[in-house]
Amino acid sequence: MLLVTGATGFLGGALVAEIFATRAAFRPVLLVRGPDSMARLRASLGLYLGAPAAAQALSECVFWEADLGSLDRVPPAAWSEITHVIHAAANTSFRSRTDVYRTNVEGTLALSGRLQHASRLVRFLHVSTAYQCGADSEPAVAETDAPGTAASHLVAYTRSKAQAEAALRAHAGRLPLVIARPSIIVGHSTLGCRPSASIFWYYRALAALNFAPFSPERRRDIVPVDHVARALLFLLTRPALAHSLYHVSAGAQGSARWSELAGALAGLYGFSHAAPPDLADSELIAARRHDVLRACAAPDDGRLLEALESVFAFSRYRAAVFENGRLSDEGFPPPPPFLSYVERCATQPAGRTIYEQMHDDAG
Ligand SMILES: NC(=O)c1ccc[n+]([C@@H]2O[C@H](COP(=O)([O-])OP(=O)(O)OC[C@H]3O[C@@H](n4cnc5c(N)ncnc54)[C@H](OP(=O)(O)O)[C@@H]3O)[C@@H](O)[C@H]2O)c1
Repeated sequence: MLLVTGATGFLGGALVAEIFATRAAFRPVLLVRGPDSMARLRASLGLYLGAPAAAQALSECVFWEADLGSLDRVPPAAWSEITHVIHAAANTSFRSRTDVYRTNVEGTLALSGRLQHASRLVRFLHVSTAYQCGADSEPAVAETDAPGTAASHLVAYTRSKAQAEAALRAHAGRLPLVIARPSIIVGHSTLGCRPSASIFWYYRALAALNFAPFSPERRRDIVPVDHVARALLFLLTRPALAHSLYHVSAGAQGSARWSELAGALAGLYGFSHAAPPDLADSELIAARRHDVLRACAAPDDGRLLEALESVFAFSRYRAAVFENGRLSDEGFPPPPPFLSYVERCATQPAGRTIYEQMHDDAG
């Protein structure tokens, strides 16, 4: 049996849909929390599979209702049935400080601890982030780079993901661990922003405002959620892997310069700017507060500005592209470039403001 955590999230939803769309030979066990988790799963799977197929798919799943912090709610004997794990649950907030540690480090260790004696376990696929590299990496990050927990971080979320990786490696014992590190997941290659406008709203806001916390030459390494879901299933089911750690990223070939991305967004939304973009910091956001709120169709409730500032911190990481040779060496195809599906992100669904899209984002 395949245990999936984070199924109600952006990536987890795409992953469960992929499991059913490809008729993967698994009966998924979904670790979910909250009384509304079934309704959220039905809505998310319905997007990918249609309502009848989503209802059928959910009827074939087993549900464990537990938080990563309350795994004792799962009967101890149930863990021994698990043969595969995809651990995608995480607190992905760029603002949280203590909860990210509790969920991403302590929660991950609690989960791996329950599986230490699961004798049928053949793979534990942990979803990390390529930004675990820290703030001061080289702009091109290799899969062989090992910055370790001493690296500096500008947001607690990425530090917690680096700590979780280190803790898993140090304490996981005989766990058959494989780590996948996605770069920046934006949209879906055919459904655009229907599953989520996470981070898309941010790039759209920067293009609208003609400023960014990075130079126009800086590359952005972006992958669609369906590519990441397929890559995870590939890494889960491939009988033998050459490595225990993989970037799931666009790499140098598949990433584009910010000037190209901003130009594409400007064309799609009809932004026109006479001057080149300003290099922005938090002070510029504050100085242009009214412009920002107007461009994003946001009420003056502080939420848009707060969200923008928190993603700004993340954008200041030096990392720009993440090498992805390992997955391609395993025979997995590269992702479609963001520029090939950005129009779908802008039009599916149409008519939403930046402020409305921002609400999809846990950042
Ligand atoms: N999105 C990206 O650009 C990106 C890039 C690189 C790596 N990643 C990694 O990919 C994974 C999925 O990210 P995402 O964007 O899909 O995040 P997301 O939309 O915020 O979803 C997070 C998921 O984790 C669950 N969760 C959070 N805290 C939990 C807890 N204490 N116990 C049980 N479940 C908990 C959430 O459940 P509820 O719905 O109940 O809150 C939700 O299902 C994460 O590990 C993230 O670090 C994401």
